[in-house]
Amino acid sequence: MGAAASLEGPLPGRIVSTRQDADPEGATVTEQSSMTAEEKAAGLREQMVQYLVEHGDARTPSVVAALRKVPRHLVAGADPERAYSPEKALVTKRSADGVGLSSVSAARVQAMQLEQADLLAGMRVLEVGSGGVNAAYIAELVGPSGKVVTVDIDEDVTDRAHQFLSAAGYEDVVVVTGDAEHGVPAHAPYDRIVVTVETSDIPPAWREQLTPDGVIVAPIRVRGLTRTVALVRDGESLVSRSMDVCGFVPMRGEGASAVDVVVLHDDAGQGVGLRIDGPEVFDDQALREALHDWRAEQWSGVMVGGTESLEYLDLWLTTALDPMPLLAAEPGAKVAGLVAAASPLGIPALVDGDSFAYRKARPTEEADRFELGVIAHGPHAEQVAARYAEQIVTWDAEHRSDRPRLTVAPAGSQVAEDSPSSRTVDRRHSRLTITWP
Ligand SMILES: C[S@@+](CC[C@H](N)C(=O)[O-])C[C@H]1O[C@@H](n2cnc3c(N)ncnc32)[C@H](O)[C@@H]1O
Repeated sequence: MGAAASLEGPLPGRIVSTRQDADPEGATVTEQSSMTAEEKAAGLREQMVQYLVEHGDARTPSVVAALRKVPRHLVAGADPERAYSPEKALVTKRSADGVGLSSVSAARVQAMQLEQADLLAGMRVLEVGSGGVNAAYIAELVGPSGKVVTVDIDEDVTDRAHQFLSAAGYEDVVVVTGDAEHGVPAHAPYDRIVVTVETSDIPPAWREQLTPDGVIVAPIRVRGLTRTVALVRDGESLVSRSMDVCGFVPMRGEGASAVDVVVLHDDAGQGVGLRIDGPEVFDDQALREALHDWRAEQWSGVMVGGTESLEYLDLWLTTALDPMPLLAAEPGAKVAGLVAAASPLGIPALVDGDSFAYRKARPTEEADRFELGVIAHGPHAEQVAARYAEQIVTWDAEHRSDRPRLTVAPAGSQVAEDSPSSRTVDRRHSRLTITWP
């Protein structure tokens, strides 16, 4: 049954769709079909599941079954089409200036984290950041012999989670209001801790409340880039066993850590800025001038396919470039010619005093093949472009098929010095190190 072209006089509890097709004689044939809201939701849910399976986000039969079961359209006030859109989060709370504070994550991101967590019947799981839907998926996966605890710092969110979980039939999930910086010791230990809010650190409580062979899945921000990482113990440290690109609302409370922004241009719809996730200090005025100054291009000869993900190139650039803010630009800035590439998530940039550079891809004569290159602005544009392009070439020649490892060691741990293929970032509780083979 296709989506209704028009909705006319719905009967109570039913949606009536009326489709009018012209018949060959020019008369009008009216075909009427009806389905309950629940039938419509089931259809949307199945479409969502098919999409996640086809795109490889949901692979394990138990994860697919959980996605097929939980009625996410029961989120209070949610439009069913939106609730079952696999790529879109449902923002449920914003700050006064419009920043998303809480959401039901996009189904694709939830599927990705559920796969990373490898949840089995009987496990005890702590979910950090509530909403209800993901906790219901986890409850499906661990079954009646398992236990799910979900914690959120915001009472509005835990109220909403309670409401969803009882409407959807998951009353056994324990919902706690509190700052997850301290975990939830009352129900520890946990076989899995699934973090659904962006964090720049791993607080000691999470490690302490994890079983010896437990797994933490968390969206960790390292030098501005966020990846959901599955971490397992390695002595006193945790090491990654998988990572995926993602975007989450930022942590609030004790673990909040803001990213600074050097605003380079702030016309409405054409904003350009450099996001700084670290102690670096830049010459803001010089970089603002650089944006409108001399621009250089350098092409690397490195080719990529049109649908190829650049997530590992970006992790390599995160390792190799220094200082490395992220260039974030609104689409209008690209249209206006201020920048040659725009991404709300940010593109690794390299700053050299009064000049900066970022990556871009250009089409080649071959269909669906692009060449990677660098655009640089400022008085030293050519030098900074050359340094950046060199790292694109190094990635291609030495690391293109490699996967880096993230190590989370307690703060103050001795780690190997930064080498050309590793980068350490210090946080309040941890030393994060990206290492390439
Ligand atoms: C993306 S939402 C959670 C999505 C949810 N798990 C779902 O079912 O899709 C992130 C949540 O993290 C919460 N949060 C932020 N900082 C927190 C903290 N320090 N402790 C606990 N929750 C926090 C926010 O209030 C927000 O509701």
